[in-house]
Amino acid sequence: MPDSATQNSGATRAELAAADGPPALRFPYDATALTEHPLRTERLVLRPLEASDAADVYEYQRIPEVLRYLPWPERDRTEGYAHTAKRAAGRLLVVDDDFVVLAAELPGTRSVDDPRRDRVIGDFMIRVSSAKHAQLELGWVLHPDFQGLGYAAEAAGAVLDFVFETLNPHRVQAFLDARNAASAALCERLGMRREATILEEEYNDGEWQDTAIYGVLRREWAARRGTAGS
Ligand SMILES: CC(C)(COP(=O)(O)OP(=O)(O)OC[C@H]1O[C@@H](n2cnc3c(N)ncnc32)[C@H](O)[C@@H]1OP(=O)(O)O)[C@@H](O)C(=O)NCCC(=O)NCCS
Repeated sequence: MPDSATQNSGATRAELAAADGPPALRFPYDATALTEHPLRTERLVLRPLEASDAADVYEYQRIPEVLRYLPWPERDRTEGYAHTAKRAAGRLLVVDDDFVVLAAELPGTRSVDDPRRDRVIGDFMIRVSSAKHAQLELGWVLHPDFQGLGYAAEAAGAVLDFVFETLNPHRVQAFLDARNAASAALCERLGMRREATILEEEYNDGEWQDTAIYGVLRREWAARRGTAGS
């Protein structure tokens, strides 16, 4: 992906940015629509997280390896279920910090507490970074048993496409613990560029932690997809 001031067309980045026009998020957006009509990928179904997914979520939420680079403390089951209920409450995207979390169901696997339901193997968050400037954020977590199989890339790619197609942000970003190589690789697989490393931004688990910021502009996403940009 070209990331210099001059891109393939020969136009400067400023010219391309100007051509993109002003922020035009399609807000408000009510993600309840995704309960009725989930996103479907080759192997996964993505629909808004529900409080009743708490048992499946706790299966990955309780694993230290999963928490390592997430700003989540260790939680006991009660705390974990309360946390999932809180995250499951996000539906309406209107103002900064509004969010929705999409649960990734894997058809053919059984939920840990209800064999009639497909298991939630991870979740993918969409958050409003800036409604004024049409900037959205993505976040993700997958149960380790299902990592290394391309599920995160498949789900996050579908979420990124959904976000650009439906919500029309100018830019989508992700914030990572800079040591999180798996998450950085996922960002790059999605066509996101490392835009910044913030040194010693947070103090977690007894050490100062750097934050990496990855981002992709709408026109870059559109170029990768070979589509017209809007
Ligand atoms: C970040 C995270 C979601 C990435 O998951 P992941 O499974 O590594 O990501 P992907 O879906 O892109 O899978 C990539 C791996 O699957 C392999 N793979 C296997 N089949 C594949 C397929 N069909 N398509 C793509 N990749 C495939 C790839 O080769 C790659 O392997 P590698 O890691 O050995 O290079 C996961 O590490 C995680 O949940 N971490 C804990 C929570 C966390 O830190 N979240 C991020 C906070 S910012």
